[in-house]
Amino acid sequence: MRLVLVGPPGAGKGTQAQFLASHYSIPHISTGDIFRANLKQGTPLGVEAKGFMDRGELVPDSVTNEMVRDRLTHDDLGNGFLLDGFPRNVAQAQVLRAILSEKNTPLDAVLELAVESAEIVLRLSGRRVCRDCGKGAHIEFERPAKDGICDSCQGELYQREDDKEEVISRRLEVYQEQTAPIVDFYRIEGLLITISATGSVADITERAIKALNRAHQ
Ligand code: AP5
Repeated sequence: MRLVLVGPPGAGKGTQAQFLASHYSIPHISTGDIFRANLKQGTPLGVEAKGFMDRGELVPDSVTNEMVRDRLTHDDLGNGFLLDGFPRNVAQAQVLRAILSEKNTPLDAVLELAVESAEIVLRLSGRRVCRDCGKGAHIEFERPAKDGICDSCQGELYQREDDKEEVISRRLEVYQEQTAPIVDFYRIEGLLITISATGSVADITERAIKALNRAHQ
């Protein structure tokens, strides 16, 4: 299964990706996670990406495309892959198509997670992340036992810079302006599957697997 997940910030791409990647036994490749891991390690890539991420802007294509091109040369892709957060504009979608066409491994599907903006703001503004293990929590929907402390490893929970309300609105604008056009791009390619991404996490995973299996019967 070679799959792309697309949807606005906070649609639940990262949450669903874990379950879908495990269901299909494929690696979960999140460009946001790769940037954050580089940031944590203080690499030049992380330093370059930080300003764009903190402002809710896209990291330049020249940087992102090369990072993905490199990741797609790793030898863990025998069963396919799940891309989360890439592509994020039509130029990236064209680069991905070219990389996969060189390898003769086209995409099987693009799964769009659809969620209303009001729900997104609630999800993102309340999200907290553990500085040590990266596990997520939510001040309303997934309250930690002790405020500010990770239930799993007792690390400090923090708010992502781009989860502050003013940056969330910019991320939503960037999504509409730059990322939403890839939905039409993939609709025209006959790869798009759209599901509603509201409800419980488990229900959404079930909905996603049913829709993907139906499309590949
Ligand atoms: P990235 O990390 O990809 O951020 P994003 O797309 O904005 O996605 P999020 O991680 O915020 O949300 P998500 O959809 O994964 O939802 P999640 O499962 O976490 O990118 C960050 C930045 O990196 C970008 O802004 C950009 O600067 C840069 N970047 C990355 N890729 C790039 C690219 N290709 N090109 C250029 N720049 C790039 O869930 C969110 C919250 O909702 C959590 O609290 C979760 O617990 C909760 N939640 C999930 N599901 C449910 C549910 N069903 N009900 C209630 N709450 C739920």
